[in-house]
Amino acid sequence: MFTSWLSTRANQTFYKGKTVWITGASSGIGASLSRELDQCGAHLILSARREDALEEVRGSCHNPENHRIVMLDLEDPKSIESAIQHVHSVCESVDILINNAGISQRSLALETDVAVLRRLFEINTFGPITLTQGVLPKMLASGGGQVVVVSSVLGRVGMPMRAGYSASKHALHGYFESIRPELSDQNIQFTTVCPGFVDTRISYNSLQGDGQAYAMQSQVQSSGMSPDRCARQIANAVRRQKDDTLVGGVETLIVPMFRFFPSLVRGLSRTNMFLKKGEDND
Ligand SMILES: NC(=O)c1ccc[n+]([C@@H]2O[C@H](COP(=O)([O-])OP(=O)(O)OC[C@H]3O[C@@H](n4cnc5c(N)ncnc54)[C@H](OP(=O)(O)O)[C@@H]3O)[C@@H](O)[C@H]2O)c1
Repeated sequence: MFTSWLSTRANQTFYKGKTVWITGASSGIGASLSRELDQCGAHLILSARREDALEEVRGSCHNPENHRIVMLDLEDPKSIESAIQHVHSVCESVDILINNAGISQRSLALETDVAVLRRLFEINTFGPITLTQGVLPKMLASGGGQVVVVSSVLGRVGMPMRAGYSASKHALHGYFESIRPELSDQNIQFTTVCPGFVDTRISYNSLQGDGQAYAMQSQVQSSGMSPDRCARQIANAVRRQKDDTLVGGVETLIVPMFRFFPSLVRGLSRTNMFLKKGEDND
């Protein structure tokens, strides 16, 4: 109880007055994160494709007047470019960019169109990288800032039915681990977050091999951590300026397990102990 109060106070001090750009703010983890940081006094830029859902999130905040909506489609380079321009026209620099938007997959690798794989990479990999490269020059000029990437446990460990999703998240780690030392002496902090099961609509929105939405809610997903709890843990990790962090329940242990006992995890994966078709994590 006391530690929770302490971290709330620390978060209020850390985020107050900071400009935080959150992608994927229209639902799930991003919507919860928006409400969490609103309560901490941050000035938010909320981005995604669905304006009505973003308005709803802004309306559910305590201080909606502090927040702006900037439309963004990560599949469209022109939309990314105009979102960056829009953001820089309304604020001198972004203090914290949270690359949270993402989309998952529910299909075997060989049954997945390459066009679907490209889509996953546009949204999950090139989108966040392009946004990051777009905000960094002004962040650097203003003396520093923080870039957060919401990856996944599957950005550390591959799993059946997720080849494209897992690859798109693994690629993020390669990029951000490489840029981190390049800017280490310029007050830019990079934080990668790897959630396990979080109870959002991600499985519903996942792409099947032909590009159609999976349109089913996974039970395992629904039994996961609440997005509000996940958002609170992300807010704490960002404030502590962690390099990387796992967020979730026991399922996140698969990451250290894979690091130390890769053959064991590969064996379990082959027996499908972790994943059954359609009942799974992201
Ligand atoms: N839930 C989990 O168990 C879990 C586990 C590990 C990692 N994650 C990661 O957490 C992040 C958030 O996912 P979530 O669970 O909150 O799922 P979600 O509820 O489906 O939210 C996904 C968000 O991404 C946005 N988005 C999707 N396509 C986009 C595009 N082309 N351009 C811009 N925004 C787009 C969506 O907004 P619009 O539809 O309005 O564009 C939505 O706000 C993702 O990166 C996901 O990979 C989730």
